Amino acid sequence: MKDCVKMASSTQFTKDLCTPAFTVDLDTVRRNSDAMLDRFLRLGVQLRPHMKTHKTIECADIMTRGSRRCIVVSTLAEASFYADGGYDDILYAYPVTSDKVQRCAELSEKLSLFHVLVDNSLALQELKARPLKQGKVWNVWLKLDCDNGRVGIPHSDPAALQLAKEISEAEGVELTGIYAHCGNTYGCKGEEQIKAIAQETTSSVLQFVEKLKAVGIQDVKSSIGSTPSCSHPVLDMAMLSEVHPGNYVFYDVQQMLIGSCRLEDIAVRVLTRIIGHYPHRNQLLVDCGWAALSHDGGGRLPTGYAIIDGHPDLKLVSMTQEHGRVEPISGKLDFSQFPLGSMLSLLPYHACATAMMHPVYIVHSKGKVVGTWKPTRGW
Ligand SMILES: Cc1ncc(COP(=O)(O)O)c(C=O)c1O
Repeated sequence: MKDCVKMASSTQFTKDLCTPAFTVDLDTVRRNSDAMLDRFLRLGVQLRPHMKTHKTIECADIMTRGSRRCIVVSTLAEASFYADGGYDDILYAYPVTSDKVQRCAELSEKLSLFHVLVDNSLALQELKARPLKQGKVWNVWLKLDCDNGRVGIPHSDPAALQLAKEISEAEGVELTGIYAHCGNTYGCKGEEQIKAIAQETTSSVLQFVEKLKAVGIQDVKSSIGSTPSCSHPVLDMAMLSEVHPGNYVFYDVQQMLIGSCRLEDIAVRVLTRIIGHYPHRNQLLVDCGWAALSHDGGGRLPTGYAIIDGHPDLKLVSMTQEHGRVEPISGKLDFSQFPLGSMLSLLPYHACATAMMHPVYIVHSKGKVVGTWKPTRGW
């Protein structure tokens, strides 16, 4: 028996796919990627795209315009996957702990450039305790928290400067750069608010680099970024060395609501079929549960857990693992418009979370299937 993934490679059109299916519109991916590359080329800043949203070689090739260099990853599984796939200059933007030092060392020794992230002295000691072979040094980025409130030392804390000094003075270690992720842009609504946070984060990082210079630490790179801030950069970002957004290649409903993109920039969908008519509760049943969409977003959209393409009057009200319940936002449903076996197309709230649910992505151009992408998984 053929499974859905095998069937996808012989299916010509997305409308004929076995569902649920995660589809990627290649033309939109290319447009989103080109727009970001060109934006930062104009600003004279290196784009180091993050791979966490899709975790595939094919999409990385588009995001790096085939250079296969200068990317960010969030797991060591991604780092190894890209290193084995011919990628180099990989920044592992996640705090290093002792369990991961050996794998990081092997990647540093194998690649011409592998970077790690540090925000505490213990991590630095762990790196020093595993000197790199072949005369290599650890490329360390200091993680600053510029009011995002997740990873990093607060940028204004004197301990941040102290740690930067420790890193730069450590044997076998180089302080390569300062990394700040402005995830607080996810609380914004509209370009003005996004730009205000982009400006604050940029200023904090650049001021920190000045403080380093004042104590004799020169040539340290600086990198900030998130999809909202890099979709609407401020001019001062031209003074940074790098930016590191990732989600923009797919975008999603969350990004549209923040103001990073338009509806037509969202490249991904979950295709689902109507598998049940239940007039007694005014609901349709679809074959997309949280195992195909994820629960991210918590159903807080006026249309529930997703936007149903072309049906602004419908709401995905709840999901179990493999089932979803759809009902009208108001009024009685006309079931004749939604035959059993017909398809609905869901725009995900958070593309990174939805993509994670799928072992294969169906890539299409104007509804014609042009390929499949297989992401890496695990940690
Ligand atoms: C450390 C780090 N850098 C970069 C990014 C990319 O940001 P975005 O997902 O907004 O594109 C993320 C996303 O979570 C991140 O955690």
